[in-house]
Amino acid sequence: MGEGSSENVRASSVRWEILRQALLRRRSLIRNPDDRFPGAISRISRKTTHGFNLIPRQLMEAGSDQDSNFRDSRICYILPIVGAPSLLLTQRVDRVADLEDFKISNRNNVDTTGLVCQWPSEDVLAHFCLSNRDMFKSKKVIELGAGYGLAGLVIAAISDASEVVISDGNSQVVDYIQRNIEANSGAFGATKVTAVTLHWDEEAASNMSNAFDVIVASDCTFFKDFHKSLATTVRNLLRNDTSSKAIFFSPKRGDSLDKFLQKVEETGLNFSVTENYDTEVWKRHHVFVNRDDSWPSYDKDHCYPLLVTITL
Ligand SMILES: C[S@@+](CC[C@H](N)C(=O)[O-])C[C@H]1O[C@@H](n2cnc3c(N)ncnc32)[C@H](O)[C@@H]1O
Repeated sequence: MGEGSSENVRASSVRWEILRQALLRRRSLIRNPDDRFPGAISRISRKTTHGFNLIPRQLMEAGSDQDSNFRDSRICYILPIVGAPSLLLTQRVDRVADLEDFKISNRNNVDTTGLVCQWPSEDVLAHFCLSNRDMFKSKKVIELGAGYGLAGLVIAAISDASEVVISDGNSQVVDYIQRNIEANSGAFGATKVTAVTLHWDEEAASNMSNAFDVIVASDCTFFKDFHKSLATTVRNLLRNDTSSKAIFFSPKRGDSLDKFLQKVEETGLNFSVTENYDTEVWKRHHVFVNRDDSWPSYDKDHCYPLLVTITL
């Protein structure tokens, strides 16, 4: 087989090619590593274009090279319950990142994962919130490490939460959250919705501590450096009440989820982990495990989000 055979190419070669392209990136010179190693990206990537595809979505507008907003696309999420509004989110076009992103994320002491894409766990979290919307009625809710904020926006649009705060530690990501809140402001009824920069290493504003009935988060437990501060943030934000809880969706990812749960315990919090929490998600998981073409690199450890419930 020649160089271009995806079977023959080492994963490390493809990753180096992606890094080389990122460092050399000039828009006119962008070359897709798939051109050189056909099919190889989907083989090494844990990412998928659709994930669990529980919240149907439609690409409305994708940035083009002629457009000054060439990095952004607008995606319409169609919430699958009768009478629910659709949500319009601005997100980055897949695989567009530049050195400025890395400068800003270094300055903020966070990574760029919130810009890369919306991760599959966020879709699962949003679906779970839709299916359990009574949980949020009249509650004060915060999403941590929200990325583009789909789950927070879904809660604001379909539940009668009193307030939803959508937060992230990366200021660029928070700008997207702010734009997404403004674009959907007509969908929230009486629910107050705000975007907030909240870095887990920093103390939250005093009006946020001991203030939230429900915390939600997806795919935020693989940063081992932040495990302790994330657990402390949860402890600090949860309202002192036996019914307060945090709902996390996270793949196991080696020992990273277990290590986070150790910190949760050390912080004096309780937790439970549920593997099968929704029949539809479980059914789709089994389709992917059996090598469905839409997610060829699916691996349970890295891709299947477990439900973690944290209480005081
Ligand atoms: C893997 S992304 C998940 C984003 C979104 N929840 C999703 O699933 O699509 C992790 C998110 O956590 C944020 N993050 C990482 N470290 C953080 C920290 N120390 N404090 C606050 N946010 C952080 C990143 O900016 C990013 O948006």
